[in-house]
Amino acid sequence: MIADRIRRPALLDRIVTPEQAAALIRDGMIIGMSGFTRAGDAKAVPIAMAARAKTDPFKITLITGASLGHDVDRMLTEAKVLARRMPFQADRTLRAAINRGEVMFIDQHLSETVEHLRSNQLGPIDYAIVEAAAITEDGGLVPSTSVGNSASFAVLAKKIIVEINLSQPAELEGLHDIYFPGRRPSRVPIPVVTCDSRVGFPYVPIDPDKIAAIVVTDEKDSASTIEPQDDDTGAIASHLIRFFEAEVEKGRLDLTLQPLQAGIGTIANSVLTGLADGPFHHLRMYSEVLQDSTFDLFDAGKLAFASGSSITLSSACAERVFSDFHKYKEHLVLRPQEISNHPEVIRRLGVIGINTALEVDIYGNVNSTHVNGTHMMNGIGGSGDFARNAYLSIFVTKSLAKDGKISSIVPMVPHVDHNEHDVDIIVTENGLADLRELAPRERAVEIIRNCSHPDFREALSGYFERACTRGGHTPHLLEEALSWHERVRTEGTMRLD
Ligand code: COA
Repeated sequence: MIADRIRRPALLDRIVTPEQAAALIRDGMIIGMSGFTRAGDAKAVPIAMAARAKTDPFKITLITGASLGHDVDRMLTEAKVLARRMPFQADRTLRAAINRGEVMFIDQHLSETVEHLRSNQLGPIDYAIVEAAAITEDGGLVPSTSVGNSASFAVLAKKIIVEINLSQPAELEGLHDIYFPGRRPSRVPIPVVTCDSRVGFPYVPIDPDKIAAIVVTDEKDSASTIEPQDDDTGAIASHLIRFFEAEVEKGRLDLTLQPLQAGIGTIANSVLTGLADGPFHHLRMYSEVLQDSTFDLFDAGKLAFASGSSITLSSACAERVFSDFHKYKEHLVLRPQEISNHPEVIRRLGVIGINTALEVDIYGNVNSTHVNGTHMMNGIGGSGDFARNAYLSIFVTKSLAKDGKISSIVPMVPHVDHNEHDVDIIVTENGLADLRELAPRERAVEIIRNCSHPDFREALSGYFERACTRGGHTPHLLEEALSWHERVRTEGTMRLD
């Protein structure tokens, strides 16, 4: 079994315990670790690092693909190992430490991190700690359920610790397409011209002498935590289906639409699943995280191909997919996140990006990251990579949050992740606002009328009308624009009564 997974015999004597591998990590090091939205994360060495730090304190800069599973971010935070963390996280304990100012979190576009590493603006990486399904005869690393930033971490790091995970299906080999853009300014175009283009290696080509340690693990990926569709997300999906149907009638799209991207989280997943109820067929995805919705669309016969950087599934869906993986494999590819999220490719393919907002303002500026303007939720992730470069940039959100105390449509967002220039369509359960070719004053009318919750509609209209009396291209009452958020801070609600 081990020899099937480590096919370069000379490497077998580098197998060590997680504790021995963790002992290689020193205070002040920069670590690049695999893991993208809980998939393909290193599972044993980081936990051994957290355990070691209890008696032998040390701090590191931790760079990953995106969020990790197995409570690794929680354990490393509790053990006070994290000095700096980038480019994304989704852990409650780490989030609290970031918001207390204890961990310096660099919230980065997911396509950019390895560009910074490659051009020495960040790094160098001391150790890459990456999960692999196998090591080839030549010493190449076969990633598991995510690629994320792992390929570049392994190539650019001084040394590599590999976790060979026996629970990851051997059939994953052949799924990946590892391509590295050249150095700038002499880089040639990235040759991905369709969702199913294969342009690189099925493994990460590395110098096997850089492998300092190998740890054998046997633990599955953490299951995703998404909730099933509810009435609101069902309504959002219905509005989007009607919008796409109208675009088809106008001759702008055909029933295969354009390549789809759907962001992380419950809402985007539910909306994508909802597309199965529409008349669309032969859909393609050029996305980053392939969630349950991707496989729901495959099983509904609606999806022809999906390109992503990770596969993150609920336990039930993982069971269904990996027990019959050959059925899906030829319709899938996993790429490094700088390629799945590359602005050049997204613009060329004409991707329809569907991402989730925490809140949207009446002019179409989107806050996806900062609760009440100050407190980090997860991070921008890949939403900016897609929103700025998409054929259609769609943001979805429920119109109310926190048991109806908060309106997700506000006069002014207190933090901007996606500005009005990058946002085409807003959808809530109440309706859809098509902002294309509209001036700010026209956008405000569309968003308030179609997207806001009836409980807050009058207050938003009142704000907008009073702001218009002061004039301006984008009218505001600056002394009042953030008063809704100030009320949340002091009274826990945006409601006046
Ligand atoms: N104010 C305060 N809190 C809000 C809010 C608002 N306007 N809107 C939502 N929330 C809270 C919810 O109450 C919930 O809190 P809880 O975890 O304490 O229950 C949390 O945000 C998540 O909201 P939910 O409605 O469950 O949506 P989701 O799971 O789809 O996540 C985002 C929504 C915005 C947090 C998530 O999509 C995200 O992190 N996006 C940024 C990254 C991204 O878009 N990546 C895309 C490319 S992968």
